[in-house]
Amino acid sequence: MSHDDEPREGAADGDRPREDAVHGERPCAVIGDRPREGAAKGDREGGVDGGRAPEEAVTVTGLRYAFGRSTAVDGLDLTVTAGEVFGLLGPNGAGKTTAIRCVTTLLPVPAGMVKVFGHDVSTDRMAVRRLLGYVPQQLSADSSLTGRENVSLFARVFDVPRRERAERVAQALEAVGLAEAADRMAGTYSGGMVRRLELAQALVSAPRLLILDEPTIGLDPIARTGVWDHIMAVRAASGMTVLVTTHYMDEADQYCDRVALMHQGRVRALGTPRSLTDDLRARLGDGSSPTLEDVFRDVAGGSLDDLDKGGEFRDVRRTRNTAARVG
Ligand SMILES: Nc1ncnc2c1ncn2[C@@H]1O[C@H](COP(=O)(O)OP(=O)(O)OP(=O)(O)O)[C@@H](O)[C@H]1O
Ligand SMILES: [Mg+2]
Repeated sequence: MSHDDEPREGAADGDRPREDAVHGERPCAVIGDRPREGAAKGDREGGVDGGRAPEEAVTVTGLRYAFGRSTAVDGLDLTVTAGEVFGLLGPNGAGKTTAIRCVTTLLPVPAGMVKVFGHDVSTDRMAVRRLLGYVPQQLSADSSLTGRENVSLFARVFDVPRRERAERVAQALEAVGLAEAADRMAGTYSGGMVRRLELAQALVSAPRLLILDEPTIGLDPIARTGVWDHIMAVRAASGMTVLVTTHYMDEADQYCDRVALMHQGRVRALGTPRSLTDDLRARLGDGSSPTLEDVFRDVAGGSLDDLDKGGEFRDVRRTRNTAARVG
């Protein structure tokens, strides 16, 4: 299969594309067989190597994207260092998904520049796709296939060598805790299992960069922890870079090395969760201990109140799509 294919919109029966599916193929064992990117296990700084400039997994400079006359991304600058877990936060409509879709090559870059491990997404699209695993905000698993069949499909579509496929699919399912449920129809899975299945789909190609758009939205706290446990375990074993969006500030605080708070298409605050809360504490000067959510409110103003109310219709629908059983 050519790497120059589009993201499988017209793939054969049973090969039908998952919405937004972008993966790379890497002919190496599936998950965590060797450290990459110079990031030690649990290295919260990630990728910094003895004074050398850290490798940039994602470089976004002056990105703009508009839907008609509505500007979604408005001069975004962002750098994700190889090996780190980077959280892109922001209220509904901030432009997170649009920006991510530019990084994954699913949307063009009309203005500005986006690079993934030094490859320009506009001119080197297939090289970029080979480096990526992507779990989109929308549902991307097929309810009428088993878990194993879903992951196998991704392995096949993204050129995992045939002789390695069965083992790597099994490893991917194992890595997300779905080995026992692998031969059940995905339509019988809970919301948390579906999200972990989608994670396995993204991991089967052993990506250097895993991009997750709201991986835990709509999940109960235990399922959320389950998804993150698996992400962090794979990341610790493989050193892959993780770029994630989430509305859950506690997740960002706990799991992200650095976060960017995006609002109205631009980054408004950037740093480690700790540095952001420290800055706000110093600014307030009233002896209080602000949380990341306070920082978020400070940056986004009233927008977070809208989030509390549940956002727009499309967000509610999206949440339910992801949280509900697939069937
Ligand atoms: N396909 C589209 N057509 C028109 N407008 C769009 C489209 N997709 C997004 N938008 C608009 O672009 C802006 C940014 O949307 P985007 O989905 O990138 O935000 P987001 O930060 O991912 O939000 P959420 O937290 O709700 O997922 C919003 O105003 C949104 O309504
Ligand atoms: Mg979004």
